[in-house]
Amino acid sequence: MKAAIIHAFGGPEVVTIGAVTPRIPQADEIVVRVEAVALNPLDLKIVAGYMQQVFPIELPYVPGTDFSGVVESVGAEASHLKAGDRVVGRTQPGAGGALAKQVVINAGSVLVMPEAMSFEQGAALPTAFGTASQALFDIGALKQGETVLIHAAAGGVGSMAVQLAHAAGARVIATGSVRNHELVRSLGADQVIDYRTQDFSQLRDIDLVLDTIGADTLEKSWSVLGRGGRIATTVEFGIAARDGHAGTSVFFADAVRFLPEAFRMFAQGRLQIVTDTIFKLDEARSALERLATGHARGKVIVRVGQ
Ligand SMILES: NC(=O)c1ccc[n+]([C@@H]2O[C@H](COP(=O)([O-])OP(=O)(O)OC[C@H]3O[C@@H](n4cnc5c(N)ncnc54)[C@H](OP(=O)(O)O)[C@@H]3O)[C@@H](O)[C@H]2O)c1
Repeated sequence: MKAAIIHAFGGPEVVTIGAVTPRIPQADEIVVRVEAVALNPLDLKIVAGYMQQVFPIELPYVPGTDFSGVVESVGAEASHLKAGDRVVGRTQPGAGGALAKQVVINAGSVLVMPEAMSFEQGAALPTAFGTASQALFDIGALKQGETVLIHAAAGGVGSMAVQLAHAAGARVIATGSVRNHELVRSLGADQVIDYRTQDFSQLRDIDLVLDTIGADTLEKSWSVLGRGGRIATTVEFGIAARDGHAGTSVFFADAVRFLPEAFRMFAQGRLQIVTDTIFKLDEARSALERLATGHARGKVIVRVGQ
C-alpha cells in the first residue's frame, strides 16, 4: 500500500513515498480507505524526533493522525459501523499512519461524518477543533461576556477557537498578521492585532488567553490578565499559576469527544473550516514544508483519494 514514510528523524525532507504492508485488523478495528489527511504541527515534531519522550515511535513510521475516509471493512466487534460509511478520526500520535491509502483503527476512534461535509473539511476537525474546545472551555472555563485573547487566530487551532469563543458569547481579541485580519474578523473576532507591528501586551483585563505560540508571547501574556484571568497554552508544558492567575497546559487526546459539536456547528452553518493548501499524497513532503513555515492559514490538507 502506498504511504508517506520516514526512515530517519529530520525535517520534511526525510519524508518519502513508498510501500508499507497494512496491519491485520483486530475484531474491534475497522479498515478505512483514507480520503484526506489534515496535518498538525505535532506531525512535524514527531518526524523531527522531538516527541520521543511523549509519543515514542519506531522507524519506519507513516506520519499523520487526523483523517477522513470511507470504511472498507469492519471487525466482528465493530458492528455499529458498516462498509461505505464516511468517517472522521484521529489515530494515536505514536501510531500515526494516516498518510497512507488505508488506515486500520479502533472503531471507537472514528465517527460518521455529516453528508454535506467534504473529506477535506472532515479531516481538518479532530485536533484543531478539539484542542480549541478543550483549551477554551474545559481548561479556560470561558463564559459569555468574558474577553478572550486568541493568539495565532489564523492557524488551525486559532481559526476554530475564534469561532467557538464568539459562538459562546465572548468578546474575542485575536492576533495575526495583516493579510489574515479580514479572515479572522469574518470568523468572529471583535478586534485583531497585528503581532508584527503592534504590542498586544498593552491590553488589560483579559479573562482568558489561548496561547499557541509560547516563549515571549506566553511571557507577555501574563501582563494582560485581569482579576481571575487565566492562560491555557498548547505549547509550554508544566506552566504554573503566577500572581494569582491560573496557567494550564493543554494536552489534547480525545478527538471523538469533540466531533459531535463540530458536526452540529457545521450543520447549522456556524463553523467555517479554513483550508490553506490541498496537496496530493505524492506531495506529502511539500505539505509538511508548507506547515513548517508556521504561517499556514487554517489547515494544510493532503488529499489521498480522488
Ligand atoms: N498541547 C496540545 O495538545 C496541542 C494540540 C494542538 C496544537 N498544539 C500546538 O499548538 C501550536 C499551534 O497549532 P496550530 O495547528 O494552530 O498551528 P498552525 O496552524 O501551524 O499555526 C499557524 C498560524 O500561526 C500564526 N502565527 C505564527 N507566528 C505567530 C505569532 N508570533 N503571533 C501570532 N500568530 C502567529 C500564523 O499566522 P500569520 O501567518 O498571520 O503569521 C499562522 O496562521 C503548535 O505548536 C501545535 O503543536 C498543541
